[in-house]
Amino acid sequence: MSTTFTIDTSTSRATPVSAPMKRLTVPAVRNRKGGEPLVMLTAYTVRMAQLLDPHCDLLLVGDSLGQVIYGLPSTVPVTLEMMAAHGAAVVRGSYHAVVVVDMPFGSYEASPQQAFESAAYLLKQTGAAAVKMEGGKAMAPTVAFLSERGIPVMGHVGLTPQAVNALGGYGARGRSEAEAAKIVGDAKAVAEAGAFAVVIEGVVEPIAIAITDAIAVPTIGIGASAQCDGQVLVAEDMLGLFERTPRFVKRYGDMAGYISEAAQTYAGEVRDRSFPTADQIYAPKS
Ligand code: KIV
Repeated sequence: MSTTFTIDTSTSRATPVSAPMKRLTVPAVRNRKGGEPLVMLTAYTVRMAQLLDPHCDLLLVGDSLGQVIYGLPSTVPVTLEMMAAHGAAVVRGSYHAVVVVDMPFGSYEASPQQAFESAAYLLKQTGAAAVKMEGGKAMAPTVAFLSERGIPVMGHVGLTPQAVNALGGYGARGRSEAEAAKIVGDAKAVAEAGAFAVVIEGVVEPIAIAITDAIAVPTIGIGASAQCDGQVLVAEDMLGLFERTPRFVKRYGDMAGYISEAAQTYAGEVRDRSFPTADQIYAPKS
């Protein structure tokens, strides 16, 4: 059994990842349209990637790391360098899932050429297989430009968080007929331009179903519909790291409670000197 990287396990806390099977590919993901639902979670760090990878078809290095890791107010300030550093960590920590890295705000909207340079930089720096890009019809020529040049693109329509300043918030999209039609048109445009899958975020359910029926590539829902071809959540939301989460999040754990409890126990043991014990200290050689 091989490992994806070599480390000195006596001194490093990193856990080597065994690689008993080949990594999934973008074409394999595209072929899952209408088949077994695709499982995608975000990952930003090596250890989370190691833990999530065996259960996921795709790991998304989302620009949500701006809020989750860096405490930024939105995804707008996230940079290409941040995405590259976290993307490389996630690739190092995974062997099975297709790793997709988000294109951050300002790195792709100006022109297809700008997008190609940013996407090529991300793929070179990280070893990821694909990039994700927010936007609909306006981004279709860019999706085509990248796809035709060997860069797989995942689309992202509906609620597009990088546009928060234009949208005025993170509420569900598509409540009017006109907006619903626009979102369906956006999804069709990026799919026809060559996107291998499309994330549908924060829309009223009939829109997600209409898009899933209308396009030839898998849809991956978040706050969308169980009828999408797959689902994605921010891992830290799903694990219960935050007290407040969007309505579409289901908490499968209580990481916040677990961490608080462990930190409180540790603090108590440091203060009453019951930690460290003989088990955690080095005795002189006899
Ligand atoms: O950045 C992110 O985590 C995302 C998902 C919510 C789809 O784009």
